[in-house]
Amino acid sequence: MNHFDSQAAAWDTPFRVDRAQRFAQFIRDALPIAEDEAILEIGCATGQVGRALLPIHGQLLGLDTSAAMVQQMRESCARDSRISCRCHDLCAGPIQSPYSLAVACMVFHHVPDLGPLLRHLWSSLRPSAHLAIIDLEEEDGSFHPAESPVPHNGFTQASLERLLMNNGFTALGWATIEAAEKPSVEPDGPPRLYPRFLLTAQRSA
Ligand SMILES: C[S@@+](CC[C@H](N)C(=O)[O-])C[C@H]1O[C@@H](n2cnc3c(N)ncnc32)[C@H](O)[C@@H]1O
Repeated sequence: MNHFDSQAAAWDTPFRVDRAQRFAQFIRDALPIAEDEAILEIGCATGQVGRALLPIHGQLLGLDTSAAMVQQMRESCARDSRISCRCHDLCAGPIQSPYSLAVACMVFHHVPDLGPLLRHLWSSLRPSAHLAIIDLEEEDGSFHPAESPVPHNGFTQASLERLLMNNGFTALGWATIEAAEKPSVEPDGPPRLYPRFLLTAQRSA
């Protein structure tokens, strides 16, 4: 059982559902969403961001490496024929039917080697498809507890744009959208703030 498997049953807290709604709104404000958009959500967990983005005639495929998260999503979306989900790691291979929009929220910092993921994502998207990434800006490593470190302590705009360019994507825009808050390590100190960015990009034609 991985770290996210153990969190799956209790994942959909009001805080996370509200956060997913905000992420979806930031993406909608930055990219056009067609009425029949085919959305691929990478690191979907229970699929809250993708569901908030899904237009009436659209389709959503959620991918996650946590089988328990995928099971939660499957149960909560069982009655919606527009939505499917799969336990799949894009680092290992692409998805067959091509999508027109990919979203990845708070997942890239968990992926040790983003090169294979981006190469397989390129193959899973239609020419000129859009990509929206929401994640942490570069931080000092204190966002996650010391006992569960992650492969990337956030990202700089330059490093992520280079990685995208090397894998067939053109960056369209970068904006700081909000900051996550953690309690201060000092008694009565101000909360620590961890800015999040939204990077939009387009797959080469
Ligand atoms: C911090 S959660 C974010 C979930 C959701 N996107 C959100 O914004 O609430 C990260 C998710 O990414 C998944 N994940 C980690 N590595 C992954 C990978 N290589 N491919 C797909 N999902 C992955 C985890 O299982 C987890 O569900």
